[in-house]
Amino acid sequence: MNIILLGPPGAGKGTLANKIKEEKDAVQIATGDIFRYNISNETDLGLKAKAYMDRGDLVPDELTVDLVWDAFDKIDSKDDKKIVLFDGFPRTIDQAKALDLGMKERGQKIDQVVYFDVDEDILVERISGRRVCTNCGATFHVKNNPPKVEGVCDVCGEKLIQRDDDTEKTVEKRIHVYNSQTAVLIDYYKDQGILLSIDGTNSPDEVFDEFNDKLGEIS
Ligand code: AP5
Ligand code: MG
Ligand code: ZN
Repeated sequence: MNIILLGPPGAGKGTLANKIKEEKDAVQIATGDIFRYNISNETDLGLKAKAYMDRGDLVPDELTVDLVWDAFDKIDSKDDKKIVLFDGFPRTIDQAKALDLGMKERGQKIDQVVYFDVDEDILVERISGRRVCTNCGATFHVKNNPPKVEGVCDVCGEKLIQRDDDTEKTVEKRIHVYNSQTAVLIDYYKDQGILLSIDGTNSPDEVFDEFNDKLGEIS
């Protein structure tokens, strides 16, 4: 089952993906995480992507689409029960069309799009308080979801950091970019009849419950 997690920066896409992975047979393809991995390893892709990300702009489609297929084609089994979560992809109409086409070529389809409905004013607060693990990618929040020991990952014990693009100025730019380039995908998938809206202002556990309830109703 192929599921897209769609929503503005800070909506809780990564947080929900982690909960789904803990409880279900699921894999996550998070383009932002793949770029950050390449940046920390100083690959060519990382060097190219960094300038766009630091500014809060989208990385060009031609650098993004291929790496999604690389990751997707590495997943061994794609039976009906295995969940593939697209986190942060697609983000433009062209990416969505490329995804539809590539799925068709593989005899697959996008089954559901989970849209996180969240008011803009809480996004900045969530992102500026976010801390991420340098090792396993687990995500925390200084107030909403603090780690047991400050600055230390509950999952693996490594150091927590603030992402380079989590400054207030860059966050505002990312929200603007989302509104101007990504939000059109809500109607794109509504028209396909596969959009499922979730109240992203609720707590992470409530978001997970709503995801399970709504997915249970349709599958
Ligand atoms: P990416 O890494 O995808 O970032 P994003 O979309 O801006 O989203 P975030 O990761 O910031 O938010 P999230 O929804 O995952 O929230 P989270 O769960 O962490 O992309 C980064 C950059 O990479 C882009 O700007 C772009 O340059 C580039 N890029 C990536 N994909 C691309 C693509 N397809 N095309 C082109 N360029 C691309 O939660 C946020 C915080 O809130 C956390 O602290 C968390 O603990 C807390 N929180 C989460 N849920 C809740 C809740 N329900 N209640 C209270 N707090 C919560
Ligand atoms: Mg994320
Ligand atoms: Zn960790």
